[in-house]
Amino acid sequence: MRSVIVLGAQWGDEGKGKIVDIYSEFADTIVRPTGGNNAGHTLVVKGEKFVFHLIPSGILHPGKKCVIANGVVIDPKVLLTEIDRLKERGFLKDDAQLKIGLLANIILPYHILLDKAREEKLGSRKIGTTARGIGPCYEDKIARIGIRACDLLLPEMFAEKLRANLELKNFLLKNYFGGEEVPFQPTYDEYIAYGERLKTHLIDTSLFIEEEIQRGAKLLFEGAQGTLLDIDHGTYPFVTSSNTTAGGACTGSGVGPTKIGGVIGVSKAYATRVGGGPFPTELFDEEGQKIRDRGNEYGSTTGRPRRCGWFDAPVVRYANRLNGLAGVALTKLDVLSGLPRVKVCVAYEIDGVRREEVPLSLAGFEAAKPVYESLDGWKEDISSAREFGDLPKTAQKYVRRLEEVTGVEIILVSVGADRNQTIIRRNPFRA
Ligand code: GDP
Ligand code: IMO
Ligand code: MG
Repeated sequence: MRSVIVLGAQWGDEGKGKIVDIYSEFADTIVRPTGGNNAGHTLVVKGEKFVFHLIPSGILHPGKKCVIANGVVIDPKVLLTEIDRLKERGFLKDDAQLKIGLLANIILPYHILLDKAREEKLGSRKIGTTARGIGPCYEDKIARIGIRACDLLLPEMFAEKLRANLELKNFLLKNYFGGEEVPFQPTYDEYIAYGERLKTHLIDTSLFIEEEIQRGAKLLFEGAQGTLLDIDHGTYPFVTSSNTTAGGACTGSGVGPTKIGGVIGVSKAYATRVGGGPFPTELFDEEGQKIRDRGNEYGSTTGRPRRCGWFDAPVVRYANRLNGLAGVALTKLDVLSGLPRVKVCVAYEIDGVRREEVPLSLAGFEAAKPVYESLDGWKEDISSAREFGDLPKTAQKYVRRLEEVTGVEIILVSVGADRNQTIIRRNPFRA
C-alpha cells in the first residue's frame, strides 16, 4: 500500500503514537488530519519518552516530512512549545520538515474558557473534556466564524474577526457563565506574534500532499482520538467534536479517498476510556486497578486516571465497519501478563437478548451487559518477544481469539512502550 491511515479503534490512547512512529520508517510523509491538542501521543525510543499533541509522531525520523493539515484545530502556543522542545532535543533541525495548513482553525483563549465554563455548568453531567477548547473551536469552524491560520498573517482581517468574535464570546463568558472576559489588545498582539513565528511552516497542505502523491511518496495519516469518540458515530454526546474515523482523515487532509491504500486500527489488548460516557466492559475492582497500574493508565494530556476494562469485541467490530480496517495493531499485550484469566467481551446482553452490535443510544449502552469469554492467562514477562512464536502459547491463543471475534487480522503486536518492543506480523506498506 502506498498510503495508510492509522487510527484508534476504541476510545483513544490505544498507542497510535507508537505505531505511527514505527510505520514512519516505511513512509515518506506523515500527516495529522484531525483533532487538536486534546490528543497526547507517546513514543519511547531507546528509553527516551516524547509526547506529541499536535506534531505528527513521524517527526523523530529525520528527512521525513510532517504535515499538520487543515482539519486540525491548532493552539499556536502549544504548537510552538512543542516545536521549541523538539529543537532543544536535537530534532526538527530543518523548518521545512514541518508543514502546517493555512486553513487550519486556531484555538483562541475564549475557546478554552468556554470549554471549562460549560463543563463546570454541566456538573455531574459533564463530558469530561480535555479543557483545551477543542469543542468550541470546531463549533466556530462549523458556524463559519472561525479564525484560521491564514488570518493571523493578515493583521487587519485578524483584528476584524477577533473583534466580532470577542463581542459574542465575552457576552457569553461574562453574562451567561459569570466569568472573566478576554481583552482585545493583548490577545491580538499575542496571536499576531504566533502567526509571525509559524509563517515559515504555513502552506497549502492539500496541494503539498497531492504533489507528494504525484512523486510517488508513501503517505501515513495519523488519526487522533478513537472511533468511539467520533462526532457522528461515537457515544454521543460523550465524544470529541471531530470525525475521528477514516473519512475524517480524507476531509481533514484534503485527499480523495481513492488515494488511500488501507486503514489500520490500533487497539489495546484490553480497553480504556478517559472522561465520561458508556464503557460496557469497565472494571471497578482490583483487576481493573491492576491493569491501570501495570499499564500506567494515566492520561498523556491531562494526567487523569483512565478507566480500564476488558477487550470489547463489538467495539472493534464497529471500528472495522466504520473504517474498513485492513488490520489491527494490538498494543499493551504485556500489561495482561500475570493475570490468571483474561476475559473478552464477545457480545452484549440487552434486556435479556443477545446483541452482536454496539447499541446506538446511551440508554442501550447503559442496559448492555457484556457477554464474556474467559481464556487462560500467562505468567511470563513477554516484553522481549520479537516474533509471534516467542509469545507463550496462551498469549498466542488470546491474540488469535481476538482475530476471530473481531474478524480483523492482527498484523502487529506491541509488547512494551519502546519502539523496538514490537512484533511485526505483516507490514501494511509492503503488502
Ligand atoms: P495514543 O494517544 O493512541 O498515541 O496513546 P497514548 O500515548 O496516549 O497512550 C498509550 C500509552 O501506552 C503510552 O504511554 C505508550 O508509551 C504506552 N504504550 C504503547 N504501546 C505499549 C505496549 O505495547 N506496552 C506498554 N506497556 N505500553 C505501551
Ligand atoms: P488521543 O489522540 C483519549 C476524550 C476526552 C473526553 C472527550 C471530549 O491521545 O487518543 P475533547 O477535549 O476532545 O472535547 O474531549 O474525548 N478525548 C480523548 N480520550 N484520547 C484522546 O486523544 C482524546 N481526545 C479527547 O477525554 O472524554
Ligand atoms: Mg493519547
